[in-house]
Amino acid sequence: MKIILDSLDRAVGTPEPSPPPEKDLVRVWIFDPLRWGATEAVLSDGERAEFARIRHEPTRLARIATRSALRRMLGTCLGLSPASVPLRRTAAGKLVSPVDFDFSVSHTARRAVVAWGLSRIGVDVERIDAGALRGVAEVFLHPSERSASEDPGLLAQLWTGKEALAKAIGTGFVAAEPKDFVFDMDDLDVPSPRRVPRTGSDRFEVVWFQTDPDHVVAVAGESR
Ligand SMILES: CC(C)(COP(=O)(O)OP(=O)(O)OC[C@H]1O[C@@H](n2cnc3c(N)ncnc32)[C@H](O)[C@@H]1OP(=O)(O)O)[C@@H](O)C(=O)NCCC(=O)NCCS
Repeated sequence: MKIILDSLDRAVGTPEPSPPPEKDLVRVWIFDPLRWGATEAVLSDGERAEFARIRHEPTRLARIATRSALRRMLGTCLGLSPASVPLRRTAAGKLVSPVDFDFSVSHTARRAVVAWGLSRIGVDVERIDAGALRGVAEVFLHPSERSASEDPGLLAQLWTGKEALAKAIGTGFVAAEPKDFVFDMDDLDVPSPRRVPRTGSDRFEVVWFQTDPDHVVAVAGESR
């Protein structure tokens, strides 16, 4: 899997969001939701109402900016205005639109990502918050991953990897649990995720990267 990364914070204007031409290619936009494109004008009425109910301002702005960026990307690919892009959610929460590729989003208060590619795609960004990650380590680490429990960088890598996989298969953590996704701790830098058998023969690859020291991004894509 190859990543083509555009940091919208540095770009002059928005890069052209063409669909990926090769099956192993994943395009990723990363941006600061407080600084980029929180344009409610491109949202649907339903989205505006949904986001207006979010009281925590950084979360609200991150949701608005991320959905705006997603609508811009999909609008260009579909030849529609961003506001008229059809979007719906599956029962598990995954956003879907009538395009012939897959996409995924993730947002924190200061970093947001939109990823799209021809295989099934999942993306996750997290702030490396040692206290918060240690606090939930018990919940998400598989017993074979316990050696990571005191290492904030590794914890962030495992957590984002698991969330990206849960999004790529489309279950989120509704029909799957973090412990269902098991990484080989001896080989974490070379992405080699294994899944505890639950959905059969699915095979995914995970790539991690950082564009700043405080956040880590994982992209999961289906290997064919
Ligand atoms: C999607 C999920 C895996 C992660 O969500 P999150 O980390 O809270 O939030 P992120 O910003 O990374 O991702 C949110 C986006 O994921 C997407 N998403 C939601 N459900 C999804 C699913 N089933 N499949 C694919 N994508 C999904 C949505 O587009 C959502 O953004 P939107 O609501 O603005 O449209 C969520 O299903 C979940 O289960 N979260 C629970 C987190 C948890 O269990 N925490 C306890 C720690 S042990």
